[in-house]
Amino acid sequence: MTKIIKVEQDMSVLREAAQALREGKLVALPTETVYGLGASAFCEEAVHNTFKAKGRPQDNPLIVHVSDREMLSLVVKQIPPEAELLMKHFWPGPLTMIMEKADCISHTVTAGLDTVAVRMPSHPVARALIEMSGVPVTAPSANLSGSPSTTRAEHVIADLTGRVDYIIDGGASEVGLESTVLDLTGEVPQILRPGGISLKQLQTYLPQTTYEPALKGENTTPKSPGMKYRHYAPQADLFLVEGDFVKKVEPRLEEAKKSGRRVGLLCQNRQELAADFHIAIGATLEDYARNLFDSLRKMDELGADIIFAQLPAEDDGIAAALKNRLRKAAGGHVL
Ligand code: TXA
Ligand code: MG
Repeated sequence: MTKIIKVEQDMSVLREAAQALREGKLVALPTETVYGLGASAFCEEAVHNTFKAKGRPQDNPLIVHVSDREMLSLVVKQIPPEAELLMKHFWPGPLTMIMEKADCISHTVTAGLDTVAVRMPSHPVARALIEMSGVPVTAPSANLSGSPSTTRAEHVIADLTGRVDYIIDGGASEVGLESTVLDLTGEVPQILRPGGISLKQLQTYLPQTTYEPALKGENTTPKSPGMKYRHYAPQADLFLVEGDFVKKVEPRLEEAKKSGRRVGLLCQNRQELAADFHIAIGATLEDYARNLFDSLRKMDELGADIIFAQLPAEDDGIAAALKNRLRKAAGGHVL
């Protein structure tokens, strides 16, 4: 049985779920990036059940979520000066940092690695829940493995009802894409997954920060185990469109119509094209990011067979993360 708890102002409604977390139950929770599937990082069985509930490959490590610095010092061997500096500027928020793990963090959490990824979320409900439970909380994105991440409680309800003990409804996620994953264990700080905090923002404080080679398109195996899997994919076939949207999509619409396939368009502004479904995803890249996963899920609900989505031209700020998710969701299909 999955219990759903809606939180508005009063955080005391979280007490029961906090207790359950501490006792090894699974609790899906809202964060500012995406919803997470929470479990106590200290409970082997609960962590193991997280992988099962999502259908997640065992070799993909989890992020440990903390509510304060004291909790951070429990889960890492030591806090490097780079982490101290970034914490001051970006925590709580969408930045995950990889450090050497403390002995109390099991290899089930880290998928056999001696490092651990840690994040302090800024969402008030996430913070309150972790604080009340008194334990660090592992939380992968709260979706079935492979499908689009969840940014609203309804998405989590659709994917995980019957698989988790609680789902906390804290409204829509503000950022809409996952945190930036930054590795602090190498010679220079490396971004393993672009996210809510940009390369430029990190370079303001740590100028040597780079993307890891696999993200720059160089042909190497990604360092972050999670980056090698197909991700975020809707049921429909997704194609990204670079440049002139109307010109590139028009001939495809004809083809689709002939074969009886229904077409959905995801664009920043509505386009004058005769498709079956249109979602105007928002004027800014922040809107696009916030609405991406919700829109992919909506297209599936509507019954689209093919989705054409606009690939933004920009590379700054949230664009890097947005384009990374779009490319993965589309399995690299770009027109
Ligand atoms: O925004 C987020 O980070 C969300 C919310 C819920 O906090 N969580 C999330 O978790 O996106 P997940 O499990 O979907 O993605 C975690 C990513 C994976 O790509 C994983 O491989 C990587 O972080 N990761 C975790 N621990 C790692 C480690 N020790 N070394 C390298 N990569 C690691
Ligand atoms: Mg995920």
